Amino acid sequence: MPNSNVLIIESNGTRADIVTSAMQFMGYVPQRWDASVPADSITHDWRAVYVGGIEDDEACEQALASLDMPADQVLVLVGADSPQLQRLTRGGSTYAAQIEVLDFPLRYERLAEAVRRAPTPRVAPSAAPLKLVGGSTAMGRVNALIRQVSPFDSSVLVLGESGTGKEMVARAIHDCSPRRDKPFVAINCGAIPAELLESELFGHEKGAFTGAISTRKGRFEMAEGGTLFLDEIGDMSLPMQVKLLRVLQERMYERVGSNRTQRCDVRIIAATHRNLESATAEGRFREDLYYRLSVFPLEMPSLREHLDDMPELISEFNQRLQRRGLNIVRFSTSALQAMRQHTWPGNVRELSNLVERLAILYPNGEVRANDLPEKYRGVQPIDEGGSILRAMLDGQNKPASAQGRGLMDTEVLLPEGGVDLKDHLADIEVGLIRQALDITDGVVAHAAKLLHMQRTTLVEKLRKYGLQACARANDASPQSGTAVA
Ligand SMILES: Nc1ncnc2c1ncn2[C@@H]1O[C@H](COP(=O)(O)OP(=O)(O)O)[C@@H](O)[C@H]1O
Ligand SMILES: [Mg+2]
Repeated sequence: MPNSNVLIIESNGTRADIVTSAMQFMGYVPQRWDASVPADSITHDWRAVYVGGIEDDEACEQALASLDMPADQVLVLVGADSPQLQRLTRGGSTYAAQIEVLDFPLRYERLAEAVRRAPTPRVAPSAAPLKLVGGSTAMGRVNALIRQVSPFDSSVLVLGESGTGKEMVARAIHDCSPRRDKPFVAINCGAIPAELLESELFGHEKGAFTGAISTRKGRFEMAEGGTLFLDEIGDMSLPMQVKLLRVLQERMYERVGSNRTQRCDVRIIAATHRNLESATAEGRFREDLYYRLSVFPLEMPSLREHLDDMPELISEFNQRLQRRGLNIVRFSTSALQAMRQHTWPGNVRELSNLVERLAILYPNGEVRANDLPEKYRGVQPIDEGGSILRAMLDGQNKPASAQGRGLMDTEVLLPEGGVDLKDHLADIEVGLIRQALDITDGVVAHAAKLLHMQRTTLVEKLRKYGLQACARANDASPQSGTAVA
């Protein structure tokens, strides 16, 4: 059971049901207030409270106090006809700044606007280590491999596209290994000019070459007892590969300009975005080194292969932003669905950059599909004139993944414990209706077209959730906007 996150304070049963359904439709988990059930006995994660028909001021205050939250940390939705409205909104009220007044019948776009203002829970700044997150099967496999290989000194070769988390994995292996209290040293073999790489790795004696003004330790020496991460190993020159192979075989090396042989005790983790097997076949990478390094290969999935981890990754990046004292950003269901259609060539790093960029543009706000930078939107506007505003993907921009996946993942795995199919299908339905309403700014006639259903059917469905259809000048029918509550 997910934690309750909106408390409904309403003595009128019918109203309470309407608000409960509407908040469920918005993706919240509502809980009706009951004076006899202490709020702290409910597993909660309060983000909002609704105050409606409750006459007794003291009872209302008691209900609000039961949230046990600082007033500026919770969104207060108040029914326009609530007997508490005046008291709560007048100057000096603790909640005045957080109040959103809701008229009945409830309308989707008004409610969406109100909940978008919900404050973001504060997290104390800390220097927590970066976490490798992701509950998907693909990331589960990666985590299992990390656990299996960590206790041993075997070399690991981490493969995968750029930004998939190869360096994070190398650190995770080190952190789980018996070497965790010794240094983890990383070097990007692709970024250092070939002629300097040897001295970077093995160190040099004073005067070994022009510019060697003092003796310097190399990365092998710095990593002594710990782990050396050789990033972009596929970019290492052939002569350097020979020298590296020798260290791996003999565990011995010399500083540049010295004949004194040093022993080393270093675990090697290498990574590359290149295909080393074909590099080997083409003679650009030594086969013997390849076999040495790939004792334990670990292939990172591209982000396209674990899109289900996106919400968890976003939450991790938000926490990182908070730790830097920056604002965070939330994504609506429609934005998340649109982002699933992107091909993510930069993988998790690209997602992390996008979250940071949007957190600057929409500090503590909620980003909808339309707010995303164009290439992440997936669904393109085809005419500004009005009839139907968005078409499904146009052929040119359609990424390969969109054809297989569509808007929803059709290959849903049946969970081990089975699934309540009716509830599950209802969730899918609500998610798609919300996206359609977001994309069409709540204009039901347009949303209905996107959903290939009759406008009246959609109005009826919304009514079931306690929501009124949006009447617009350009909305097709004069009857749109039927009052439902
Ligand atoms: N599973 C993950 N959980 C959390 N952050 C991740 C994950 N995978 C990648 N990242 C983040 O994405 C960015 C790129 O990761 P990195 O390890 O540098 O990728 P690579 O070395 O493959 O290019 C980093 O900010 C990293 O923290
Ligand atoms: Mg990297």
